[in-house]
Amino acid sequence: MRSIVKKVLPKIITDSIIKWRVRRSITELYKYDKRRLLKYTYNVNDHLSMENLRAKITFHYHSIEKGLSNANLRLGFGEKAFKELFWAMDKYVMEGFEVKDFRFQNAISVINSYVELHRTYGYDVREIESYLKKYQDYLLKENENSGGYMIIDKATLPNFKELRFSELAFNRHSVRDFGIKEVDDNKIYEAINVAAKSPSVCNRQSWKVYLIKSTKLIKKVLKQQGGLTGNGDNLKKLLLITSDKQYMTGGTERNQTYIDGGLYTMSLLYALESANIATCTLNTSFSLEKEKKIRELLNINESEDFIAFVAVGTYPELVKVAKSPRDNYSSFLTVIE
Ligand SMILES: Cc1cc2nc3c(=O)[nH]c(=O)nc-3n(C[C@H](O)[C@H](O)[C@H](O)COP(=O)(O)O)c2cc1C
Repeated sequence: MRSIVKKVLPKIITDSIIKWRVRRSITELYKYDKRRLLKYTYNVNDHLSMENLRAKITFHYHSIEKGLSNANLRLGFGEKAFKELFWAMDKYVMEGFEVKDFRFQNAISVINSYVELHRTYGYDVREIESYLKKYQDYLLKENENSGGYMIIDKATLPNFKELRFSELAFNRHSVRDFGIKEVDDNKIYEAINVAAKSPSVCNRQSWKVYLIKSTKLIKKVLKQQGGLTGNGDNLKKLLLITSDKQYMTGGTERNQTYIDGGLYTMSLLYALESANIATCTLNTSFSLEKEKKIRELLNINESEDFIAFVAVGTYPELVKVAKSPRDNYSSFLTVIE
């Protein structure tokens, strides 16, 4: 019946019906997304689940880890992050959640790393130490050094080109401070090209890449972005990956730009790493106001979704990186038989 109606009706009518359906589905799907965001994300929902608290704990200890690895270390940093972290850890314990959980363990390990570093400078962090005492007994021996920062000597870096995939993956770190020597543009272009082999929905390849080379513009953009504060010395090249909604059908593909753009970005990170280029992904989770400012600064079309910035540079002689430990796969894999 449907196919007969389709054949009989002029295209203009069937197109209008399709458009009406897509519009309706966009409204429904966004309503559904909105409800789930309000219900499950941890800065909105009133009843924090274990996963909410794990996320909040990770967010704040990671921010401290980043501070520890900051090229321009500011002693006594992190007041706000600690306040939120301790609140979340207290709540986590109060709720009776598993303190052997790797994220909770990492948090203690990061606090420990913070206290130890400040001790070496003779800097008084008594308040943090008292919290550490409170949690220290929960810390398992095997996780003592799981979180914090590490220093990598450029001379010990492998030749990334020669690495097998697992080695490439385990040797990749977000590098937030760069060497003086600039990265050759051609190497970046090559990586951008290799990354285009990423899969995408129906091979629509909605991604776009911007290479920003003006130091003045990079500074302006990063001031808005805010994720590289205190770092980024010698940063001369910044990539922006976007993904264009014009390549998508409608509501059911509302997240597809992010999926395809994300896949592209990951390939790009590995391609750059494989060319011995240091990178740091930088978020584009902007408020509306910031998003508009960045669009204006870089002249980005409204149809494009921001995926991520990627800071690119050479390695400095010594680089401090956040350890950013990962969960074991057994904690997030479900096998469905
Ligand atoms: C989408 C995305 C956004 C990120 N944004 C930032 C950022 O704004 N600032 C920053 O210093 N790191 C940022 N990172 C880097 C993460 O902190 C880092 O990937 C994570 O801690 C894992 O560490 P690793 O990359 O060293 O393995 C971002 C990473 C991703 C994937």
